[in-house]
Amino acid sequence: MKKGIIIVGSSNSDGTTMKIASLIGARTNFPIIDLKTKTIGEFDYEFKNKDDDFLPLIRHIVECYQIIVFATPVYWYAMSGTMKIFFDRLSDCLKTEKETGRKLRGMEMAVICCGCDQELKEGFYMPFIETAKYLGMTYMANMYFVEENGLPIVHEAGVNEFLKLIKDGHSVIS
Ligand SMILES: Cc1cc2nc3c(=O)[nH]c(=O)nc-3n(C[C@H](O)[C@H](O)[C@H](O)COP(=O)(O)O)c2cc1C
Repeated sequence: MKKGIIIVGSSNSDGTTMKIASLIGARTNFPIIDLKTKTIGEFDYEFKNKDDDFLPLIRHIVECYQIIVFATPVYWYAMSGTMKIFFDRLSDCLKTEKETGRKLRGMEMAVICCGCDQELKEGFYMPFIETAKYLGMTYMANMYFVEENGLPIVHEAGVNEFLKLIKDGHSVIS
């Protein structure tokens, strides 16, 4: 299996998102990066945040991995603010960090997410799918976990299907 990494963007390092990331991490051997432990500032047109943790992290990711699994809670029907800041900073890779941006091309993306609603609202995955397309990445799979009383409900069949999609390398988007 290709090497992958799980990027967690939750406001709670011990929350439901970390639990689903740990579950997928244990089944794939993908390491987990908790964005809450990193100092990553918002996108700035003058790149005032260029010396924070974003560039070393994204350089490490493109050098060492082929698959990025983004793990985010649903906060107000969208990815978390922490995750959105990470996505905004991908713009650095189109401007001052183009070499790294080019290396994202051909990589694979998947998304795991969790929320309290029984179903994810339509369109939740769109920013991930379109970002993957824009960057030349292949969008492989996604999975939503419902949280109840602080724990994710885990449907084994769904997890197996998700793992099969990222392992077999078949994209869910044609
Ligand atoms: C600020 C905030 C906004 C939320 N908005 C939603 C939402 O729009 N839809 C939903 O299903 N759950 C929503 N939730 C519930 C969380 O998605 C859910 O509790 C999730 O498991 C939290 O993951 P975490 O422990 O990693 O933060 C929200 C929670 C918070 C704190």
